[in-house]
Amino acid sequence: MTSHRRILLILGGGIAAYKTLELIRRLRESGCSICAVLTDAASQFVTPLSVASLTNEKIYQGLFDLTNETKIGHIQLSRDADLIVVAPATADLMAKMAAGLATDLATTLLLATDKPVLIAPAMNVRMWEHPATQRNLKQLKKDGVKIIGPNEGDMACGEFGLGRMAEPAEILKSIIVQFEKQNDRVTKLKSLDTKEHTKPLDGCRALVTAGPTWEPIDPVRYLTNRSSGKQGFAIARELVEAGANVVLVAGPVALNDPRGLKTVRVETAEQMLAACEHILPVDIAICAAAVSDWCASSQAINKLKKSSISSRQLELKENPDILKSISMKSKDRPKLVVGFAAETEDLIKNATEKRKAKGCDWMVANDVAPGTDAMGGNTNQVHLITSDGVEAWPQLPKTEVAHSLVTRIGHHLRARAASSPGKKQGGKRDR
Ligand SMILES: Cc1cc2nc3c(=O)[nH]c(=O)nc-3n(C[C@H](O)[C@H](O)[C@H](O)COP(=O)(O)O)c2cc1C
Repeated sequence: MTSHRRILLILGGGIAAYKTLELIRRLRESGCSICAVLTDAASQFVTPLSVASLTNEKIYQGLFDLTNETKIGHIQLSRDADLIVVAPATADLMAKMAAGLATDLATTLLLATDKPVLIAPAMNVRMWEHPATQRNLKQLKKDGVKIIGPNEGDMACGEFGLGRMAEPAEILKSIIVQFEKQNDRVTKLKSLDTKEHTKPLDGCRALVTAGPTWEPIDPVRYLTNRSSGKQGFAIARELVEAGANVVLVAGPVALNDPRGLKTVRVETAEQMLAACEHILPVDIAICAAAVSDWCASSQAINKLKKSSISSRQLELKENPDILKSISMKSKDRPKLVVGFAAETEDLIKNATEKRKAKGCDWMVANDVAPGTDAMGGNTNQVHLITSDGVEAWPQLPKTEVAHSLVTRIGHHLRARAASSPGKKQGGKRDR
């Protein structure tokens, strides 16, 4: 349930912060990735280095040191998470959360999120029992914040009573419960699959491309687009969940390598094609990358001077067509090739034509017109175009689009295998 989940973990300034290090270790063991944020006070109790070493990721401390703040990095941090956990939750953090204050990175994240929040309070028994803290607790519960603990016992301050942070194992259990609730629907679907087939894509090899490409003009400039890679990464993760052996070829994106698969990082369309050719043959190819259609005809060795080129002089040539080249393979063609068509107008018409022109089996058409969330955002509204027609899917989180697509692929390949038992993988196309 925790595998491939992303947790935004906020550490407050309390003695119990040392127990959070153990929690991080357990979460990592259970397959979660963790982005940690330390309050100023927290870094007095545990070192940022210990936390970074255990999470194996950059940690965040100051609201104003987020290098990517031009892209509203503090909002991005909470957007990328499936769950926010505050451990230890100090009396101070609880008060700020209850009052809706946003005075530092931790509290700003907590106010700027719509993700579920779980807190593990830890404090001296008098602080816990104080009417102010109890008032804040009541408010937080009313606001939908989930609470684990505190427990009763001996305290670091020599007193006895309620206020000890819940043990890491208890917090982990509570996190799992949260994920179970969040994914009730998904879990049900998955358990249906599990009854018949432990892993629907067990033994399948899959290739996924994701993100944009960068086409250099000179050593400092390049042509690109706004693709974030989130949809392709989500698909790759879902394929892993479904049992596939996945290689993800990613253009330049600000996303960490997903667990459980191989990620190959490239910059240009040429490099992406070469990486894909190297990975083939596969059973499933999903080309979600927004490959630049053009690149500069020649790349200048030195930075071009403003005076050396007029606005009409940049000469372009067409990039290789990766989707088409995979779809049109005469030997070892994947059983299923899925392309993505990003369109700003005549979505269905253009994507339907594109499916035919490229020779792929399915085309996922997404509307990337200004105002939609598709390019760079967390949701996508797609149409699935197959030889059977066009299906409109509702606007969904990209993770849900990925789940539905992979479930669909599982059903499709099973039906195909049932209709031609004993047939070897690869070869004939699947329209
Ligand atoms: C030695 C020491 C231990 C502390 N332990 C706790 C604690 O367990 N829980 C708590 O709520 N505050 C504790 N505090 C007080 C917090 O560190 C203080 O309220 C701080 O402002 C919290 O900041 P934060 O909520 O931004 O992390 C402790 C302070 C000190 C000096």
